Parts: sequence; structure tokens; C-alpha cells
Amino acid sequence: MSLKEIVIKEGILKGTTLYSLWLRERLIGDEFIDPNNLQRLYEPSLLDENLLIDDYIVQDKFLSISFSDGVKGKISVEELYKEIHSIDTVPEKKIWDKNDKIQVFDNSQIFQNTENLTQMLKAFYEYGYAIIKNTKAEENEVIHFAEKLGPVRTTNWGKLFNVISKPNPNDLAYTALELKSHSDNPYRKPVPGIQLLHCIANESTGGDSSLVDGFSVAEYLKFNHRDFYEILTQTSVNFKFTDVDVILENKSKLIELDTDGNFKQITFSGRLDYVPLLNDKHLDIFYKARKCMYELCNSDQFKIKFRLSKGMIAMFDNLRTLHGRTKFDPNTGFRHLQGCYIDHDATEGKLRRLLK
Ligand SMILES: [Fe+2]
Repeated sequence: MSLKEIVIKEGILKGTTLYSLWLRERLIGDEFIDPNNLQRLYEPSLLDENLLIDDYIVQDKFLSISFSDGVKGKISVEELYKEIHSIDTVPEKKIWDKNDKIQVFDNSQIFQNTENLTQMLKAFYEYGYAIIKNTKAEENEVIHFAEKLGPVRTTNWGKLFNVISKPNPNDLAYTALELKSHSDNPYRKPVPGIQLLHCIANESTGGDSSLVDGFSVAEYLKFNHRDFYEILTQTSVNFKFTDVDVILENKSKLIELDTDGNFKQITFSGRLDYVPLLNDKHLDIFYKARKCMYELCNSDQFKIKFRLSKGMIAMFDNLRTLHGRTKFDPNTGFRHLQGCYIDHDATEGKLRRLLK
């Protein structure tokens, strides 16, 4: 037999059609891949494009194959199954609202063992946030905590930023004003993946925190306001930040979908967005849709409210979870948060390694 493709007749891959070249470049073993990094030791683009399968058998959890270029090898059936069905060890996202239990973790336990760290990271990926208590209420503690998870992203604000009320601020975060639910830094390329906000002091009246699951809001819009959902998933909006030495701009949809139509990213920041000049019919729907999304993102139905007290860190997925705070009175006490950004590479990659 010499076949371009085969149909597996048994086991978990039963009924699956597999193509010769696709299989050939998945052969395992030291002859084909470097055992240290699992990278190919050959250039797959140079394989015979008319390659055929001469023989194959499924045995002992492996698919053993002989190819027409004289190469024989095997592939794990389980690994093939996982790849074909896009099975990832990083848990699926759970949609939540105000009725869900707040995900709180203790800093003294998270890094005690890999099991605790795994539980925290799993919850972070399921819910898009984690509240950490019992950290030191000291400057730079947010960097120390973040660097246990991955490299901190330095921006034009430096490695960390101080959220503190100050005169002539270059961002509304540095005032005592209320901040409605929003994404941070939507004008950056790429938008920061994960934000950590650490509380050093929160002695003012007001200044309570809130988080909202942007995916939950997007799902509500999808099923209750289809026309709004469609315009928000189709319109690229420009986000802009102006400072004395830099003007940052980035375009994104308020609800970004992946190629399968799943929620990929939520971007909402009403103080910084500039919708393109669409025709009046589309602009009319867009403005109604954005207003509806704003109302949902700030409604009690979706928001969890909590006080970020001294020594606590709010760590959230800035591509999914929106955050906000109530206004505070700086005359009633000192309020000082420090924040920084890390990338999903660090946490997602670490979790995948822990779950392997
Ligand atoms: Fe923010």
C-alpha cells in the first residue's frame, strides 16, 4: 500500500483521516527532534511533497508508520488527539458575575508548593483575576510578587506606576476621581496582558475597588442585544494617550473575537476611545451599543466590589477583566497603590508547565 492519507480504525482516533506529510513532521524520537527542546532537527519544508505512507499500525498507544522516503517512526496517539481537538491544559474560562465567590489567595501559601501555585494560576485563568492577601505593604512589593510569576513589562511609565492623587496628573488614575470599569492602557501595542495593583495604604474615605468579567458582559450583549453585539465586534476603535514626550495609539474592537467566534479580548475605556467616522446609521447603533456596554460594565449585576486594603494585590487579566474604583477623599487619609504589568506568556506558560 502507498497512501497519501489514512483513516484510523481503532482507539481514540477512530474515524480520523490523517495526511502523510502532516504525520511525517510529527515523528518523535532523537533522530527527528532535539530531546532537550523538542524542536525539529530537519527542515520540514524540504520533505518530499509527494510523500506516501507505505504502512502503519496503532499499537501500545503509538501510531507506527513507514513512509515512502524510507523513514520509519512513531507518534503518540494521545498527543495527536490533543492537538487535533485543541485540548489545552490551561483551563477554560468561567463566566462570572456579582453572585460568584471572590477568588482570594494567601501570599504566604501560594509559593509554598507547586500545588498551591497551580491552584492560584488555574483560578486566574478561569476567572480572569485573583485577589492576593498578606503581602508586605511596602514599596516595590508588587515587583517582587510579579517577578515570581514572570518578567515585568517596562513602559514609558517605568517598571511600576504609583496610583496616588497628585497635582497636574498625566492620567485620571492619578486623581481622586471615580474610575468607571475600564481596561488599562488600550493604546499600547500590545495592550498589557496582566495588571497587578498592590495596596500600600488605603486610609481615605472611598476608594473601593471593583472588577467586572468583560466576557460575561459580552455574552449578555450577544444574547440580548444582537445588533449592539455585532457592531461592537466589527468596529475598530482608536485608543489614544497623549503625554509630553509620547503619543500612543492602538486600534481594537470593544469585543474582539477569535477566528472561531470565541471571545478573545475586551477593551473598554470611554475616556480614551475614538470611533471612526462611520455613516450615520452605523454611528447611531455604535453609540447606543457603547452606552449599553458602559451601563452593563458598571451595573451591580456584573460587578464584584471589594476594598483593596493594605497588603493586598489585585491581579487581573487586562484583556478580559475590567477594573474600577469609587472616588476617594484624599483629605481623610493616605491612599497609595503601586501597579505593574506582566505578560500572559509568563503565567500561561508557567501553568502549562506545572500541569504537564
Ligand atoms: Fe486602570
